[in-house]
Amino acid sequence: ARILYREVVVAGVLDAKPSGAGGPAPEQGEHTVSITVVGASGDLAKKKIFPALFALFYEDWLPEHFTIFGYARSKMSDEELRNIISMTLTCRIDQRANCSEKMDKFLKRCFYQSGQYNSEEGFHELDRKLTEKEAGKLPNRLFYLSIPPNIFVDVVRSASRTASLPSGSGWTRFIVEKPFGRDSESSGELTRSLKMYLEEEQIFRIDHYLGKELVENLSVLRFSNLVFQPLWSRDYIRNVQLIFSEDFGTEGRGGYFDNYGIIRDIMQNHLLQILALFAMETPVSLAAEDIRNEKVKVLRSMRKLKLEDVVVGQYKGHTRGGKSFPAYVDDPTVPNDSVTPTFAAAALFIDNARWDGVPFLMKAGKALHTRRAEIRVQFRRVPGNLYRGNVGTDLDMATNELVLRVQPDEAIYLKINNKVPGLGMRLDSSNLNLFYSERYQREIPDAYERLLLDAMEGERRLFIRSDELDAAWAIFTPVLRELEEKRVAPELYPYGSRGPVGAHYLAANYNVRWG
Ligand code: NDP
Ligand code: BG6
Repeated sequence: ARILYREVVVAGVLDAKPSGAGGPAPEQGEHTVSITVVGASGDLAKKKIFPALFALFYEDWLPEHFTIFGYARSKMSDEELRNIISMTLTCRIDQRANCSEKMDKFLKRCFYQSGQYNSEEGFHELDRKLTEKEAGKLPNRLFYLSIPPNIFVDVVRSASRTASLPSGSGWTRFIVEKPFGRDSESSGELTRSLKMYLEEEQIFRIDHYLGKELVENLSVLRFSNLVFQPLWSRDYIRNVQLIFSEDFGTEGRGGYFDNYGIIRDIMQNHLLQILALFAMETPVSLAAEDIRNEKVKVLRSMRKLKLEDVVVGQYKGHTRGGKSFPAYVDDPTVPNDSVTPTFAAAALFIDNARWDGVPFLMKAGKALHTRRAEIRVQFRRVPGNLYRGNVGTDLDMATNELVLRVQPDEAIYLKINNKVPGLGMRLDSSNLNLFYSERYQREIPDAYERLLLDAMEGERRLFIRSDELDAAWAIFTPVLRELEEKRVAPELYPYGSRGPVGAHYLAANYNVRWG
């Protein structure tokens, strides 16, 4: 259905119909999709969601008939919302033609409704306006919960009672942003509460890393290249590294962050999702349930993370070149004695036949020296390597490494040993490179574009199923609890540095050197 839908849109039939659970058959008439961004006054809505919707509109991925509503408590007119949105809309560099005309057309489809999150009044009014816009068409509704987690259930309760479409009509879906709880218990509680009002098929738990181009490409790389398939196991892979770093701190989000910390913010979701795609067995097909079944299986084969396999850190203030950078605890919304980690490194293991004994090392940190997200696969040494003596003094140079750079500057490269040209016999380590900016002359869509489109099409492949979520929390919950109960002091590292040295000792325990 997904390919068909997109093919139809590409072919220019712009009223192609997203189909999904409960949706009427396309033959029944003209469809319309109403997208309501709940929390429209917030950071994520402005930074990501409205720009992604505009990009989809610009490239004709949205159905011909659609309406966008912002919903939040802030008082605003339609015009004021449009002004706010217009400040963040951009066109892709390669598609500047007619940009402002397109923006005007897009903004005319955007409306605003203010209301409380826990009362049905505001959602009643929203429903009335949505119904007005949907008149004469077959309606479908998508709600994007871009709000703090403590009000997810309030919104779902109110919106599902008053602004959901009746059964037998079009579909009503809810995209839920992370965090999905703080541990196994609270996540289970959230799932149970959401399911009091929604069916699992209506819940789209978003992990925006799954919408990133290189993460989407991971399965293609694995399953459509014969050269990699036989290598993808403990027989050839020495270790796998999943690295996330940002060169800025928690500025502006300290209040949220202090309740979660980097393990919950990045590792338990973004990095673990990548790990699952990296390590899962070949799915029966590309159907969402087949893929998610394999992800659940591999997550359930993982060992619970132990405290001795974790290093935590927190950034401290630093002055460089006359400029001072704040400590994490300088944020007024963070307690002075906070032990919340802004950095963590961890060694994880999958106890199955394919990965037995292979360390999967994760490293995630804020306020580090660089911004990057990478998957690094280090292969074993060549047995009986004839050239070992010729490869300089660094033995690691003798091993191959495959790097998938998720961001910035998307790339895939493979480190190989190569003869340095000349009459002698000297080897060096060189890269076989696939740099996206050189190979593909088009801008890469933002992750939110792909995921919003998928949700409209009812494509669940890149969204998290509730049993996946349970399996993910089961790996991290015991260690999170222990860290908090023991108030384990994080190792301090200067803002803008490479992070705590403890991460190197942890890797060394498993004979690994970070890439
Ligand atoms: P915000 O803190 O900006 O909140 C969004 C809106 O929710 C606000 O504009 C406000 O609207 C309302 N709101 C805020 N706090 C409360 C409160 N205590 N009670 C009731 N309403 C409140 O959040 P973000 O936009 O940053 O994030 C939205 C969701 O997305 C969160 O779950 C976050 O964890 C997640 N997320 C955010 C990312 C980001 O980069 N910002 C990245 C990934 C996930 P009003 O007052 O007008 O009602
Ligand atoms: C979010 C985290 O999920 O991902 C943020 O809550 C983090 O702390 C962000 O900054 C990173 O996303 P990206 O796409 O900018 O790498």
